[in-house]
Amino acid sequence: MKTVTFAKRTLRDASVDPGQPVLVRVDFNVPLDGGRVADDTRIRAALPTIDWLRERGARLVLCSHLGRPNGRDPSTSLAPVSDALRGLVGGGVYQAPEVIGPEVRRGVGRLEAGETLVLENTRWEPGEAKNDPALARELAGLGELFVNDAFGAAHRAHASTVGVAEHLPSVAGPLLEREVRTLRGVVDAPGRPLVVVLGGAKVTDKIELIDRFLDLADALLIGGAMCFSFFRALGRSTGDSLVEAEGVDLARRAILKAEDSRCRLLLPVDLVIADRFDAAAELRVTDEPVVPPGWMGLDIGPRSRRAFADEIAAAGTVFWNGPMGAFELAPFAAGTRAVAEAVAEAPGTTVVGGGDSAAALEQFGLADRVTHLSTGGGAALELLEGKTLPGVEALDDA
Ligand code: 3PG
Repeated sequence: MKTVTFAKRTLRDASVDPGQPVLVRVDFNVPLDGGRVADDTRIRAALPTIDWLRERGARLVLCSHLGRPNGRDPSTSLAPVSDALRGLVGGGVYQAPEVIGPEVRRGVGRLEAGETLVLENTRWEPGEAKNDPALARELAGLGELFVNDAFGAAHRAHASTVGVAEHLPSVAGPLLEREVRTLRGVVDAPGRPLVVVLGGAKVTDKIELIDRFLDLADALLIGGAMCFSFFRALGRSTGDSLVEAEGVDLARRAILKAEDSRCRLLLPVDLVIADRFDAAAELRVTDEPVVPPGWMGLDIGPRSRRAFADEIAAAGTVFWNGPMGAFELAPFAAGTRAVAEAVAEAPGTTVVGGGDSAAALEQFGLADRVTHLSTGGGAALELLEGKTLPGVEALDDA
């Protein structure tokens, strides 16, 4: 994959003096379990930025949303995230009681060079999602430089991602820069052939991506429950499989578009079917992608796995988003595992986006075997669909 230009100022272009307060927007929207961080991937992904600033003696003010709280909901406090971060960097990390206000300003004033204050959940403030100028100004008052490293939230035009950038010199953090360069590279300068593997439940979630990649890719491989909308559009029996009704027309249009496209559209040629959604269900492998009444398709079959793996092995660039089947149940994990292994072994550039595909790679111990595992869900999809990300646009031009 060729390198693509990044038109925004980055942390490398910024000068940071010892003792300087720097406001950093991160995406620490991580899963919690029993008051602890259940998956620290997003925190570890921000460490290079945090370390870079600490080494230069900055006073770090980190802010993030967590979940979608309705007001000041203590179950969405950033405190468990601060604990996890403290464990990773070895101390000097403090939790603020609020997002803004006098107590927070005092907390910033007390920081020594290289120390970090984590603000409370930005979504506790009603002005966050409205990009309220007063909240943006308050946040901006906590630093002399704004670093946006929250790629996962770059599609949200909020006070902490967009508004704040109007008031401070604003640069991209290394994680955000790498995400944008890599994902843009997939659409703008891919090594050929470009092979795109899409799965998951809903065509409606992915139709813009399907449409774009039918224009740009060399092969588009569709698995997961989403393929049943395609089979229904082709008039095939789908039995009791999950079929998204609104997806059928969209799938029909995609099939028609593929006929005039240089991109090959590949659907599964066989399936693993079961008599119910249960790990102990009775299973069968079909010869054709047809599901009899009383059965449901829960994974792609062995011939499809081989066909998909062969396409991935021959690709110059692979983009994968979405599982091939109900991989959370062991009997239906083979399709997703086959794609994950093929992606891990592929000689080309491999880019994976989306929470479920990332979880599958983690589950199979392959997360470190891909070129780029995106920390963004919705943001990654919007970028690939060709949309502008407001959190990136708001930064200073290079
Ligand atoms: C994500 O998890 O995709 C980001 O943190 C954005 O979260 P949101 O969809 O709640 O804005």
